[in-house]
Amino acid sequence: MATTKLFVIDISSSVDYVPSKFIWQEFDRPNLHEVQSEKESIPLIDLQDHNHSDTVIKIGQACEFDGFFQVKNHGIPERLINNMIQISKEYFGLPESERLKSYSNDPSKNVRLSTSFNVKTEKVSNWRDFLRLHCYPLEDYVNEWPSNPPSLRKDVAEYCISMRGLTLRLLEAISESLGLNKDYINKALHKHAQHMAINYYPPCPQPELTYGLPVHTDPNLITILLQDDVPGLQVLRNGKWIAVNPIPGTFIVNIGDQIEVLSNGRYKSVKHRAVVNCNRERISVPTFYCPSPDSVIQPAEELIDDEHHAIYRGFTYGDYYQKFGIEGLQLRIAWKCSKPPLLNHFRGFVRFFRLFRKFPSKFTLMNWRNIRKKIFSCCPIPPVVIQLEGLDNKRGYFSIMFSPIYHGKF
Ligand code: OGA
Ligand code: NI
Repeated sequence: MATTKLFVIDISSSVDYVPSKFIWQEFDRPNLHEVQSEKESIPLIDLQDHNHSDTVIKIGQACEFDGFFQVKNHGIPERLINNMIQISKEYFGLPESERLKSYSNDPSKNVRLSTSFNVKTEKVSNWRDFLRLHCYPLEDYVNEWPSNPPSLRKDVAEYCISMRGLTLRLLEAISESLGLNKDYINKALHKHAQHMAINYYPPCPQPELTYGLPVHTDPNLITILLQDDVPGLQVLRNGKWIAVNPIPGTFIVNIGDQIEVLSNGRYKSVKHRAVVNCNRERISVPTFYCPSPDSVIQPAEELIDDEHHAIYRGFTYGDYYQKFGIEGLQLRIAWKCSKPPLLNHFRGFVRFFRLFRKFPSKFTLMNWRNIRKKIFSCCPIPPVVIQLEGLDNKRGYFSIMFSPIYHGKF
């Protein structure tokens, strides 16, 4: 049955199978039975620990080795957290006609309700609806937020203000852990920006066939995720997917691409994804903290010397986000400027062809976009070359394969 419904929440209540537009190709599916579920999947850090330098060390290690950690005793009142989850449920419980008032597929909007990941560019859909809000400076945006449910603006505003406080504390600790002044990152963000999403993942009749959110890294600086009590987040570690099961009262923190660049690659923006399940709806609320679009992001000078060359070149966050953040969840972009990792590039290339020879039939099913993805996933550090134009035709593809570094203008 073809459905004319726009949002997954309205589709999910009327189907007992996944409509074809949500079905990922076999080689790209989540393989849920292979996911590891450990009790302590990522480090859990107590922010109330009285030994400040100990906490800074733990945070630094988590950023370096995991790219993800959880925090407890973070000082955010339970009331704000419960209100945030409650208002999210109420919002998505509104009638479709009410929700449609905020619908937009234009990613540049300050407020928008949308579905999947990027309905304009993607070929396969994801089992997610989301409300995305710009939230700093608050007074510039709050009056554009949905006015229904009536307490949404108040509850979400309180939550945002608190999350900003927590983020700034974490950024100080991260700066210190890199041996930088504690306000280093704060200053690098120029005027700062803060966005958030309310992700709503309805129950899915065939969770093996699709994603809530496909594999990606976060293009922003740092993300603080609140999730309800339903599992779904998974992070990639040593080539294996690990489930990050919810621990009540904690937040999940992950390093985004911009801290990877500021730290000159020492801290990792790690791939992650969200999967869905057949029994329960899931809500997650990421706070995306960002540089303002005009900030120039580059490796901290203090971290560069004769032995540690800058491996990323400077760019404005606005450029980065526009070209990569929105365009391609699948593309892990390294803006490297010296010592191109030729070896990695070559390895990715060789592995791709080995796979190609072993499973030719899989590749004949792939379109260019998927082939491109495959090359990236074959390569531990993706090839440096990103040709912005022509990626979806043969020329773009071969330019990725054969030229080790792209010297053009971004
Ligand atoms: C995101 C994200 C994970 C989740 O919104 O960028 O990774 O569990 N979300 O919802
Ligand atoms: Ni993410």
